[in-house]
Amino acid sequence: MNTNPDNSLKYLVEAGGALNGSIEVPGDKSMSHRSVMFGAMATGVTEVAGFLEGEDALHTLQAFEQMGVVIERPGQGQLIVHGNGVDALRAPQQAIYHGNAGTGMRLLAGVLAGLRINATLTGDESLTRRPMTRIVEPLKQMGANITTAEKGTPPLTLLGGDQLTAIEYTTPMASAQVKSCILLAGLHAKGRTVVHEPDVTRDHTERMLRGFGVDVHSSGLTVQMDGGQKLQATSLHVPGDISSAAFFIVGAAMMPGSSLTINNVGLNPTRRGVVDILRLMGADITENNARESGGEPVADLHINGVQLKGIDVPESLVSLAIDEFPALFVAAASAEGTTVVTGAEELRVKETDRIQVMTDGLRKLGVDITDTPDGARIVGGDIQGGEVDSAGDHRTAMSFAMAALLAKGTISILDCDNVATSFPNFVALASGAGLRITEA
Ligand code: S3P
Repeated sequence: MNTNPDNSLKYLVEAGGALNGSIEVPGDKSMSHRSVMFGAMATGVTEVAGFLEGEDALHTLQAFEQMGVVIERPGQGQLIVHGNGVDALRAPQQAIYHGNAGTGMRLLAGVLAGLRINATLTGDESLTRRPMTRIVEPLKQMGANITTAEKGTPPLTLLGGDQLTAIEYTTPMASAQVKSCILLAGLHAKGRTVVHEPDVTRDHTERMLRGFGVDVHSSGLTVQMDGGQKLQATSLHVPGDISSAAFFIVGAAMMPGSSLTINNVGLNPTRRGVVDILRLMGADITENNARESGGEPVADLHINGVQLKGIDVPESLVSLAIDEFPALFVAAASAEGTTVVTGAEELRVKETDRIQVMTDGLRKLGVDITDTPDGARIVGGDIQGGEVDSAGDHRTAMSFAMAALLAKGTISILDCDNVATSFPNFVALASGAGLRITEA
């Protein structure tokens, strides 16, 4: 996190251009966190390919190194994790720093909750504002000794204690992080852990745990798992992150003259909402060469640019595209007609309040947008040039950059350093595909 806003990275994106050619985006962030965690918890040597070498996942990797796990990095995106089982994890000498990563902190809290070690988990300014009561509450019900700062925010302090007891828990919000935290704590709890969710959320934890030999049962909105199961090392290939591909999918889909192929994109049914929402808006997206990789569906996407249409986004698709709404707001601004997003209040507790940041920024670019507690109403039309503030959020920064394709003037975007949390080579890849972007 850049602590000096005057020095923070700025993007200058000239108006116009189109996205063309063939690209591949970096590895999936959710899966990268889990691959290093599960490899470290397992017994044996886990080999990972396609690991995202972005700051968020690297903080998770460093957390396990701090706890004594040996992790080799023989090449770009490659890890060799020497796991000795969770009981071999050593108490970290210093606080574990998760940077900007809510996933790292919330999932690690689940891993550590049932162990006999003490640990403090901290993060950057953004993470220090994010709600942790959502995981602390169920972990306490399981018997964990865990505390937060006064407002239920980080740092988290865990004191190793008695064995946890499994719970049956209904999460109050659709959150894969909360579900995953409870399941990971459930691995060392006595009894069967059951989690019910209000809506479908990403199921990478369940899929990947199965790859590590754990018996996890999913049925509808319920997941169940017996405690006491051990992870066995495995090898896996992390596919390209659909959340990173989303900026390019939106950019190409909304910009006539674009014809872009994105190879090796993870298309897990719990993550593909952005493709389905864009198709409802009239986007021309084809999925080719569908296959499986690392227990996850993968395909190559081809996108041809068209004039999109505004829609009422079905609430059933919201949790399947939760990280893609900043980009979808830009698609809506380009569309003919009005787009209405509802049921997306979780956007307010991401790395920033994404509804607010996108509303403020798009309004500065002349877009007719009204925010609501759980979404926004966006009237498509012209996008002007101007200066917008990403507020240090990687996804808002990259979304505003794509808006320049259709803008009438240059868009400058403030506070873009955190793009490195999820997409280290964004500027090079985007400019290679035709976005007129430079760093300043
Ligand atoms: C994630 C789950 C989502 C998502 C985040 C990654 C994960 O958060 O927004 O970027 O890897 O489990 P919530 O589960 O809190 O919605």
